[in-house]
Amino acid sequence: MTFVRNCWYVAGWSHEIPRELSTKRIMDEDIVFYRTEAGAPAALEDQCPHKRLPLSMGRLKGDAIECGYHGMTFGANGRCVRIPGQDNLPDSARVRSYPVHETNGIVWIWMGDPALADTSEIFQLPEMQAEGWAPHFGDGLYFAANYVHLADNLCDPAHVAYVHPTTLGNPESEGVPVEVERDGHTVITSRWIRDAPPIGFFKALDLFKGHVDRWHYYYYHAPNIAVIDFGSIETERNASEEERQFGARLFALHFLTPISETETVDYWMHIRNIAVDDPGMGDRMNEQFRVAFDEDKVVLEAIQRREEKPLDRRPVRLAIDKGPNYLKKIIAEMAARERPEKAAAE
Ligand SMILES: [Fe+2]
Repeated sequence: MTFVRNCWYVAGWSHEIPRELSTKRIMDEDIVFYRTEAGAPAALEDQCPHKRLPLSMGRLKGDAIECGYHGMTFGANGRCVRIPGQDNLPDSARVRSYPVHETNGIVWIWMGDPALADTSEIFQLPEMQAEGWAPHFGDGLYFAANYVHLADNLCDPAHVAYVHPTTLGNPESEGVPVEVERDGHTVITSRWIRDAPPIGFFKALDLFKGHVDRWHYYYYHAPNIAVIDFGSIETERNASEEERQFGARLFALHFLTPISETETVDYWMHIRNIAVDDPGMGDRMNEQFRVAFDEDKVVLEAIQRREEKPLDRRPVRLAIDKGPNYLKKIIAEMAARERPEKAAAE
């Protein structure tokens, strides 16, 4: 599955993009990041157009990078501003500059046509800033797997009973069907498990004494963002869908950024409605998320390794695949719209 380029991707959390030159590979492109003197993030192609030395091996001079080989210097917009030993700055003396935008502690990068980059399209969740909610950053978790495998997993509430038995799932969910909807570029998979013991995640936090009703709403915004609204509430309250906020409710956010066809970073964080003034609670929750997401990593990396071998039979299709199948179709449509010639050839 090819990449969708005309889209905002998370380049990193704000706190991991310093003033100094640092590098990341995104969609097979090597990019050098830094901050201008005013503090704005900047992202340039990490290669001098002269002898191809990575610019990240050069020096930051004010808001520009000076190549470490012959001193050609490039501003944050990618244009060459100095060539030692000549006055003429040819128009071709430039590097690609990527649109970047910082909001809510996150640095976003646009990997497609810069003319189409519209910061109003950057993902926002009102709870990121709303009263009564606490956002808490997690990690950038590396997966040796194509991002579509991660996307598949993030439209799939059915796996939690098997992959995350000590944190996010328990056997009570095994037989409960998953509801699936498609809304534009978003796939919504959901289910409620009523009157069951709490999952390990909440047990470890000692939040519930008796049985709970728990919900999972997975919103996958193709191609790269998952919002998982999950939580639990005491069964005796007999809560409706609209009463989720009276329980312990979390949004687990996953921002997928492909490194290459076979590697992805999952930038994950959560927003919670309980103990909002206690960052220690956020840390404890993150410890459990780390256990769970490492379990996904083991599964998805094993699938990726298997995928590199030829397939000798058609995979079996199950009812629970409906959400992931919608999602793959949407991603394929988005990619095809960007590259119609390639899609026609395939
Ligand atoms: Fe999972």
